[in-house]
Amino acid sequence: MLSFDTNGNFQDNYKFLIGSILPRPIAVVSTVNEDGSNNVAPFSFFTAVSSKPMIVAFSPINRAENGQLKDTPRNIFREKEFVINFVTEEIVEKVNKTATNLPYGEDEFILSGLTPIDSEKVKAKRIKESPIHFECIFRDHLSYGDDPGCGRIITGEVVKVHVNESIYEDGRINTDLFAPVGRGAGHDWILCDHRFEKTRNR
Ligand SMILES: Cc1cc2nc3c(=O)[nH]c(=O)nc-3n(C[C@H](O)[C@H](O)[C@H](O)COP(=O)(O)O)c2cc1C
Repeated sequence: MLSFDTNGNFQDNYKFLIGSILPRPIAVVSTVNEDGSNNVAPFSFFTAVSSKPMIVAFSPINRAENGQLKDTPRNIFREKEFVINFVTEEIVEKVNKTATNLPYGEDEFILSGLTPIDSEKVKAKRIKESPIHFECIFRDHLSYGDDPGCGRIITGEVVKVHVNESIYEDGRINTDLFAPVGRGAGHDWILCDHRFEKTRNR
């Protein structure tokens, strides 16, 4: 077995994270810029935290070039709200475009061709083409530093869930109909098209 210390450069640690923790779900986070325009970006360091209150968490990492905060956390700290949109195979190309590092204030909805629609409880828009939306109110922030590669946890309370009828059956989201897409190592994306079931005795 090979063994590695983690006190080298952040890029090496990053490779172990993205090569080990997979497939990762993808949160496509929409927020509002200071001038009222939209911002959209995908984040695969993303998970569920609590059912009630319903809390989710994701981790924007400081920019590799200069350690600066990405636009998404910058907007969330000011506006205190955001929307998480989920990814299916049909919108992978467009979602990938939203990861482009545009100058602050430029709208990734326009760049990607995704369609913004109004939310009910927050100002941030939802992505029409996404089958599930979580409207979130900012809850907590934990930062692990200001250098390039340092991450932070942002949690949000989900105050409204929207699910497209086409993937909702018998009171739950049907995984096969949803057909979510995950993130792998490097530039890999992963289709969830080989599901199996295991029941538990207790
Ligand atoms: C599928 C995918 C997942 C990503 N996950 C993350 C992540 O978890 N954390 C992160 O900091 N950047 C992640 N990125 C890169 C950001 O999306 C990218 O830096 C983006 O430009 C940030 O946008 P913003 O400045 O508008 O917030 C991911 C990119 C892709 C394509």
